[in-house]
Amino acid sequence: MMRLAVLASGQGTNLMALAAAIASGEVPAEIAIVGGDREAPALAWARERGIATFFAPAREIGMAQWERRLLATMTDAGVDAVVLAGFMRVLSGAFVALFPERILNVHPSLLPAFPGLDAIGQALAHGVRVTGVTVHFVDQGLDEGPIILQEALPVRTGEGRDELEARVHAVEHRLLPEAVRLLSLGRLQVRGRIVDIMEG
Ligand code: GAR
Repeated sequence: MMRLAVLASGQGTNLMALAAAIASGEVPAEIAIVGGDREAPALAWARERGIATFFAPAREIGMAQWERRLLATMTDAGVDAVVLAGFMRVLSGAFVALFPERILNVHPSLLPAFPGLDAIGQALAHGVRVTGVTVHFVDQGLDEGPIILQEALPVRTGEGRDELEARVHAVEHRLLPEAVRLLSLGRLQVRGRIVDIMEG
């Protein structure tokens, strides 16, 4: 069974959706550890559930030190793959290189549109008619790795941020567990930028 480190900086709704999909038997994986760079509801939720957590204040100790500590914890926990579920920091190239095609990220836009912070706000401000969700492998670039799954969402006329965000989240909560499922079943094959999804 694939052992996951899930890194989260925020509310943790993607973490919860992934945990639910694992609990239901839909995704053959295990959350070995939940890691955080700041105190956040996601971490509190994991602690309450008795899931092992890693926390260090990245802002104070710096990302290099944070990654070193996380790596030691991940090694002890026998982690095979990393899921970024609302993780709001950029992992170093050295860290990413340790897990080739083994780090997944969920992003609230149709990449390559609107990388970086506040993608939903960026999409609304830009006036796009269609946005969506991307799950991709993490490489050295910012929100740039090979795309695993995407789903489009039309932006409704006059739609506010909260409404769009809720619809984006609902899609994320399906897409991220599905991508983890495909990875854990060995059904993702990467050819350069292209990810082939193999028949199950
Ligand atoms: C999600 O919308 C996720 O796509 C986004 O943060 C949110 C976290 O929500 N991630 C990024 O923007 C990464 N660049 P959650 O904490 O409720 O899962």
